[in-house]
Amino acid sequence: MGVLFNKRESEPQVSLPIHMGIIMDGNGRWAKRKGLPRTFGHKSGAKNFRSIVKYCSQIGIKHLTVYAFSTENWTRPNEEVIALMNLFEQYLIEALSDFQNENIKVKFLGEMEKFSSKIQNLIKEVEKSSQNLTGMVLNIAMNYGGKREIVNAVKILAEKVIKNDIQVSEITESSFSDCLYTAGQPDVDLVIRTGGECRTSNFLIWQAAYAEYIFTDILWPDFKFKDLDNILTLYAKRKRRFGGV
Ligand code: FPP
Repeated sequence: MGVLFNKRESEPQVSLPIHMGIIMDGNGRWAKRKGLPRTFGHKSGAKNFRSIVKYCSQIGIKHLTVYAFSTENWTRPNEEVIALMNLFEQYLIEALSDFQNENIKVKFLGEMEKFSSKIQNLIKEVEKSSQNLTGMVLNIAMNYGGKREIVNAVKILAEKVIKNDIQVSEITESSFSDCLYTAGQPDVDLVIRTGGECRTSNFLIWQAAYAEYIFTDILWPDFKFKDLDNILTLYAKRKRRFGGV
């Protein structure tokens, strides 16, 4: 258990990001290093995901967005895609009780139509049963792409202009944000990427325009509470100037 940020025992001692994003990378390499198939890495990653979500809620993160499956991940070998779909299904069933116990409101970001009807139904059930919960908002990005999200927002605004619901002059950063999957939620303060790669991979490219990025070599299944505590301590020391001086 992390110590610095354990809200159940004391208030966090440093300022936390209000909205935190996590790119959970490195499952495949974690498994390979152990001589196991990649799918074992995802299984271990899903288990870790479940406990990190609970920890984030307990230490007082208000919005957590995780990258579970990108619009590009469909190009992976079929057996890996199937294994990931099975894990999503299992997680959505098993974690339902976590959301109620931890008061977590869940939202899914992305185009859900591409998932099986079973997964789509579970998604609807999870969103519906957690919609009135008042604790942390957990955004699960699935079949998500930042560029696609932006194009989608452009289409929504274009339709409104065509229908004369709004004027072009009314298109602002704020009205644009309202057409993103994260409408109504604050911009992202911190993005963590595990697994050693230093890129954004099409994740929250609008919302994270002024986010701090922290990259760690730790592979996602090995990323534990103390590692998160260390990153949050680093984040708290960053001077955020938002383009000012
Ligand atoms: C990246 O690791 C991880 C993914 C593409 C999937 C993320 C999924 C999980 C953490 C598990 C399930 C999630 C939920 C919501 C239950 P990678 O395969 O790219 O690893 P590599 O870079 O080592 O190949």
